[in-house]
Amino acid sequence: MIKIMLNLECDHYASFTTGLFLIKINHDMYKMTKILQLIWKRLFFAVALFSLLMVYACSSGDRTESDNSGSGNLMKEAEEMVDDGKGVGPVKNLELSAELDQKLVAEGESIFESKCTACHKFSDERYVGPGLKGVTVKRKPEWIMNMILNPQEMTQKDPTAKELLAQYMTVMTNQNITEPEARSLLEYLRKMDKSN
Ligand code: HEC
Repeated sequence: MIKIMLNLECDHYASFTTGLFLIKINHDMYKMTKILQLIWKRLFFAVALFSLLMVYACSSGDRTESDNSGSGNLMKEAEEMVDDGKGVGPVKNLELSAELDQKLVAEGESIFESKCTACHKFSDERYVGPGLKGVTVKRKPEWIMNMILNPQEMTQKDPTAKELLAQYMTVMTNQNITEPEARSLLEYLRKMDKSN
């Protein structure tokens, strides 16, 4: 009888302790899930913070990039303002028609014969000045007229004319050409380029 009682008590005790043990495991697991949850939350915040930082860094990177390209554009614009290929002088914008004006061509030819042939040939051959073959293709019409009207300032300020001066070592003399005369000369140069 006592033995049975003892057994029972032992069993009771055993189940009691296993019960406690299970509770403890349960409790530990609960704690573990809580810890995992916490880790997950922290991780989530860390990831969120990281991506926020990345977005910020990227956007500010973009900003500096666009700033750079902005200043790049500004630089370009400044360069174009310095050299738009039209030269320095009274002629700013010139619209040319595809057709040649034969009257202007004839006028231009006679001026050219009297004032320009001392230094220029209509080939690519160098004379006192450069050969004028292809000049109307190489240069803008405004540039050519400004070169004829304003050679001193052109060779001081215009990058292309500066280069020419460095090459030819003589400043093209100002022939006191008027603007309409320069326009006729341009027409003649165009005609010569077309017939070449
Ligand atoms: C005293 C010599 C001389 C005379 C005269 C002269 N030039 Fe020039 N020309 C030059 C020289 C030299 C250059 C090269 C730029 C420089 O060094 O000034 C030049 C450059 C030019 C250019 C640019 C050529 C290029 O390759 O882009 C044109 C266009 C031009 N002359 C047209 C004329 C016309 C048109 C006349 C007549 C009205 C004329 N020149 C009279 C010496 C002369």
